[in-house]
Amino acid sequence: MSNPTPSILVFAGSARADSLNKRLARLAADSVGQQGGNATFIDLRDYPIPLYDGDLERETGIPEHARTLRKLLEQHNGLVVVSPEYNGFITPLLKNTLDWLSRPDQEHEGLVLFRNRVAAVMSASPGGFGGMRSLTLARQLLNNLGVTVLPDQLAIPRAPQAFDEEGRLKDSALQERLDRICARLVNTLARLGAE
Ligand SMILES: Cc1cc2nc3c(=O)[nH]c(=O)nc-3n(C[C@H](O)[C@H](O)[C@H](O)COP(=O)(O)O)c2cc1C
Repeated sequence: MSNPTPSILVFAGSARADSLNKRLARLAADSVGQQGGNATFIDLRDYPIPLYDGDLERETGIPEHARTLRKLLEQHNGLVVVSPEYNGFITPLLKNTLDWLSRPDQEHEGLVLFRNRVAAVMSASPGGFGGMRSLTLARQLLNNLGVTVLPDQLAIPRAPQAFDEEGRLKDSALQERLDRICARLVNTLARLGAE
């Protein structure tokens, strides 16, 4: 049986132009490519979606950008979700995006989109813990949607100082950990046949 190349959608829960988490997400996408996967990095700033509102959904349906993101998710077997930490939690942007993606429409059953997907979670923060409290919640949310989340995770502390001029992590141990997680994600999806 042939194992097609796993395709992995990579995004961060921040729209900020100088987002540390987007920097980490771009690095994760590079690493996925080096580990033999096909990575697509997307910037959620390019897909603005209104705050979920059941009346809006009833009156005008799923917003166009949410539908585009659903199509992108459909085209990928895996996910890397890079989660900034706000008050020990995931960001409203990440929650809102995943909430809209979980909604059924005429073509989809909603959560079916997430089934059989495998994800890795990561975070970056100026603080000493690297936003790791958000990872437990990002993991829980993805699990609730039906995504299998790898046990390995990465939190980059003091992130404004953590990247070199090429955007790589200055601490080689952290860069190796990032590469190991991306390799595990690619290999897990390849073993599953990347359906
Ligand atoms: C409302 C708010 C709450 C925050 N709470 C935390 C926190 O609990 N832990 C933490 O490490 N950083 C916290 N921060 C700092 C963020 O980690 C920091 O702004 C980070 O750069 C945001 O991610 P981004 O660079 O990807 O946009 C908070 C920032 C904001 C705006």
